[in-house]
Amino acid sequence: MTRPPEGMRRAMYEAEVGDDVFGEDPTVNRLQETVASLLGKEAALFVPSGMMGNQLGLKVHTQPGDEVIVERTCHIFNYESGAPGLLAGVVLHVLDGERGLLTPQQVRGAIRHGYYWESPSRLLCLENTLNKAGGVIYPLERTLSLAEVAREHGLGLHLDGARLWNASAATGISEATYVTPFDTVSVCLSKGLGAPIGSVLAGSQALISQAHRYRKLYGGGMRQVGILAAAGLYALENHRPHLAEDHRKARRLAEGIAELSAFRIDPTQTETNIVMFDVVEGEAIPLLETLHQEGVAMVPFGPSTIRATTHRDVSMDDIDRALGILKRLFSASINISHSKA
Ligand SMILES: Cc1ncc(COP(=O)(O)O)c(C=O)c1O
Repeated sequence: MTRPPEGMRRAMYEAEVGDDVFGEDPTVNRLQETVASLLGKEAALFVPSGMMGNQLGLKVHTQPGDEVIVERTCHIFNYESGAPGLLAGVVLHVLDGERGLLTPQQVRGAIRHGYYWESPSRLLCLENTLNKAGGVIYPLERTLSLAEVAREHGLGLHLDGARLWNASAATGISEATYVTPFDTVSVCLSKGLGAPIGSVLAGSQALISQAHRYRKLYGGGMRQVGILAAAGLYALENHRPHLAEDHRKARRLAEGIAELSAFRIDPTQTETNIVMFDVVEGEAIPLLETLHQEGVAMVPFGPSTIRATTHRDVSMDDIDRALGILKRLFSASINISHSKA
């Protein structure tokens, strides 16, 4: 949703470029080195999207027919167009977490035993923060205990860290600490960071070399894309330090929504930049249409669930304006606790 600001556009304009298919774009190389170092990994690869980062992560860890353990609400299962089956040829073994979080017992129970009639368990994928669960932060302790189970059974670990920056901004735990147990990590430069495009996959030199080959095979080899990498570098330097402001705006929105009886929300569950709340069953779409006419953009996350996201182009005043509109339109509405929602 963000628009590149003037400083970012200038950085793009001034970027030094070369042919990245030959590894000769100095700005892309600088971005890859910067992200690898931020994440404490040996190497990194610039890719067009978070989805490509994830799909390369799956591909370099698996063989067709392997099984990948994921949680039901994750992006890889819900919003990646069936790519795990098509591109890596893997089976997703889907577990139901609580607010998107898995337990070590669940993962241990899902790992196959090696019988030849089973698909081999090869990889565990986690997401931090959890998008569909409402920007929930994967607690570090839980991540470490899940990683231990995965390791005991020889599984690889991939993190969909599209919003990992937000987890770090909220907790003060560094990105590198969060991703220590993971073999591969995909992070996004778009979304809250505000670049117009781009994600980065990081990991060991060996895994990133494999990913490099598959990025080309998937049609993701790019040429003078230093102009895009420059936007990512600018976002890391200038926008990343301010992500906590998005979290404060989200909390203010959640607390305001909690005051209206037409909605159900526990504002203490708004941990980062995503606000999830419930309306009366079936009312999400009509309500969003009304809000859209008033200039408030949110998205449906189910027949009775709405997701709002704060970002750097939405100010605290905008949040207050949105709350004013919600109050005007819905304070006289049915009390959700008296409905069947
Ligand atoms: C958790 C998560 N992972 C991956 C992606 C994919 O990113 P992209 O839209 O850049 O492909 C998204 C996009 O919203 C996301 O929320």
